[in-house]
Amino acid sequence: MELTRLRGFQDLLGASARAVAHVEELARAVARRYALDEIRIPMLERLELFEHSSGETSDIVQKQMYLVRRHEDSDPERGEMALRPEGTPGVVRAYIEAGLDKSDPEQRFFYLGPMLRYERPQKGRYRQFTQFGVELLGRADAAADAELMFMIDDLRRDLGLDLTFEINSLGDARCRPAYREALLEWGRAHLAELCEDCHQRIDRNPLRLLDCKVDARLAESAPKSSDFLCDECRRHFDQVRALLADAKVPFRVNARLVRGLDYYTRTAFEVTSTAVGSQNAVAAGGRYDGLVAALGGAAVAGTGFAIGIERIALALDATRLAAARADVVLIALGETAMLPAAAIAHELRANALRVEMLSPERGLRALLRRADRLGVRMAAIVGEDEIARGVVQLRDLKTSTQSEVARGDLAASIRAAIK
Ligand code: HAM
Repeated sequence: MELTRLRGFQDLLGASARAVAHVEELARAVARRYALDEIRIPMLERLELFEHSSGETSDIVQKQMYLVRRHEDSDPERGEMALRPEGTPGVVRAYIEAGLDKSDPEQRFFYLGPMLRYERPQKGRYRQFTQFGVELLGRADAAADAELMFMIDDLRRDLGLDLTFEINSLGDARCRPAYREALLEWGRAHLAELCEDCHQRIDRNPLRLLDCKVDARLAESAPKSSDFLCDECRRHFDQVRALLADAKVPFRVNARLVRGLDYYTRTAFEVTSTAVGSQNAVAAGGRYDGLVAALGGAAVAGTGFAIGIERIALALDATRLAAARADVVLIALGETAMLPAAAIAHELRANALRVEMLSPERGLRALLRRADRLGVRMAAIVGEDEIARGVVQLRDLKTSTQSEVARGDLAASIRAAIK
């Protein structure tokens, strides 16, 4: 019996878990600044929810769903449940189920949690990954779309990352049919050059032809959505672009950007990083003005995005990834110093320092080596003599300097050194 983890699933420990947690903390801080409300939705939903939102022709629904079966044959929900591959459908379902589409349609949600997709695993592409997602409901204005990209740009700045924004407008229920028709015609003319998947989806979702993996250059001859936009959609797209340009968010219009999910209308965008390798899409989103109604709610507009937390963590530089878990280690020399050392650790933590006590079983040199390996900057060392005199030996492991500090001044001395 092999008790290893499943392919495409990760164990995150040590520095890699800290890197992911760091990104999550910064994402939560962005959520606070943008006055977003957290929403927590189930991992497991009815399969139909995803079929009616993500789309029956999407790769997610066709190939990537983890379906859940109960053992009992009599279970009425047998085979009808799926682990969520994305957050948007569940958020919209919860919004409708709470009656908010009618009672209080303007809502600003964020969520943070695992999603599951049966994809071919590679660096940056996992079968379980974490999304930080935002859904702004009841906002039809272009400022809402721009606000989403401002959030991602704020996170980019806080993390010190280089990101590229690509945007497009896919039109709405009025102008999309003509574009769809033009793509269908183009697709039929090029059918022989298109992949197997495209042959399947040409009639049901010709927009996806632009994602054909066989020959990326082929899409360059396809009709552009921008040539088909109605006046309203064009004005909306102009406003989004003007807002981004004013805020100096660096973006590029990609007239052939389509998304792999069916619910998008008007604005669609993707954010990439050059630092991640081939799986470089770190965030994506767009407007979905028809989704609330399609899932049985009122006619309410919506727009949102999701960030792949692990991909952002991969894009961070190595020194940040290796950031230490503690500011200071406490080393007690000998059995009798152990209890007073624990009390000192407690005092330091009350001063908001991150403190780790090392097991006193080894000698001082070995303990200092361990502290260094942990990447910790400071070591506070106490023996019987220090305890009696109310002092601590404070060692800076980076500069290899050591000084004696009064116990009452210890927190301030550490803070000054690690600043
Ligand atoms: P998505 O493009 O499918 O959109 O996923 C958003 C982000 O999740 C991607 O850009 C990527 O960073 C991350 N991601 C997706 N699949 C994986 C994977 N297998 N491994 C690692 N990271 C991954 C959505 O999910 C939409 N719900 C976004 C949205 C929200 N649109 C409107 N509101």
